[in-house]
Amino acid sequence: MKREKRNIVEDVIVLQDVYKVYSVEAQPVEALQGINLSVKNGQIIAVIGKSGAGKSTLLHIVGTIDRPSQGRVWLNGTDVSTLNDYTTSVFRNSTIGFVFQMKNLFNEFTALENVMMPGLIAGIPRSAVKERAAQVLHSVGLSHRERHRPAELSGGEQQRVTIARALLMAPPVLLADEPTGNLDRKTSLSIQDLLLELCESYTTTMLLVTHDLDLAQRLPHQIIMEDGMIIDRGNL
Ligand SMILES: Nc1ncnc2c1ncn2[C@@H]1O[C@H](COP(=O)(O)OP(=O)(O)OP(=O)(O)O)[C@@H](O)[C@H]1O
Ligand SMILES: [Mg+2]
Repeated sequence: MKREKRNIVEDVIVLQDVYKVYSVEAQPVEALQGINLSVKNGQIIAVIGKSGAGKSTLLHIVGTIDRPSQGRVWLNGTDVSTLNDYTTSVFRNSTIGFVFQMKNLFNEFTALENVMMPGLIAGIPRSAVKERAAQVLHSVGLSHRERHRPAELSGGEQQRVTIARALLMAPPVLLADEPTGNLDRKTSLSIQDLLLELCESYTTTMLLVTHDLDLAQRLPHQIIMEDGMIIDRGNL
């Protein structure tokens, strides 16, 4: 599957002085405290750090699922604060693929239909979407499971469907939060290989949150978060 003709800027993800403060019973929780980050097209970065460090919050903000309390975010050259709710969702659907933990597939749809979803939302004709979805499912090794519903798939297969769905639109940005967290070692390794291979072949920029230090070491870059800040960015 080829990425649609569109310009990909050099710095695909840019965060400038990003803060996120949640308020729980009038108590502020400073989940992000001044994040500055610039990620170039095609870079693959592991985000590591203790529980509560702000890793998922960072992914939600980069993914336009949540908005910063302060600071600016540019994705592929677009200042996302200039988008309204509707244009944000259209932009998100074509720009970002999400691979979060399992259980976010639609149970009533087949694997193929789940993978087709972002294409249908984008208004691409059904037959073209179906063809693309079949190709992407093939690339994750699941052609023989197209008609299975999520409950009729193993955990690793469900995760591969999620990856296929995330890649359907060939988004410039892939965000993965513990993508192999619930899987056995062997399945986990094969899904890691698959993600890395697909990122390379589609030149996808990826932020991948993990507690698995072996996985983090396999990625070209690592950033370490603590208390809502990036405390180490290695060779980035
Ligand atoms: N919706 C929310 N409302 C209030 N506080 C929140 C919310 N989401 C996260 N937090 C708080 O923000 C901080 C960062 O949370 P976050 O989920 O980003 O951590 P994390 O690094 O992903 O941790 P983990 O490794 O456990 O997934 C935590 O202290 C958490 O309690
Ligand atoms: Mg988290």
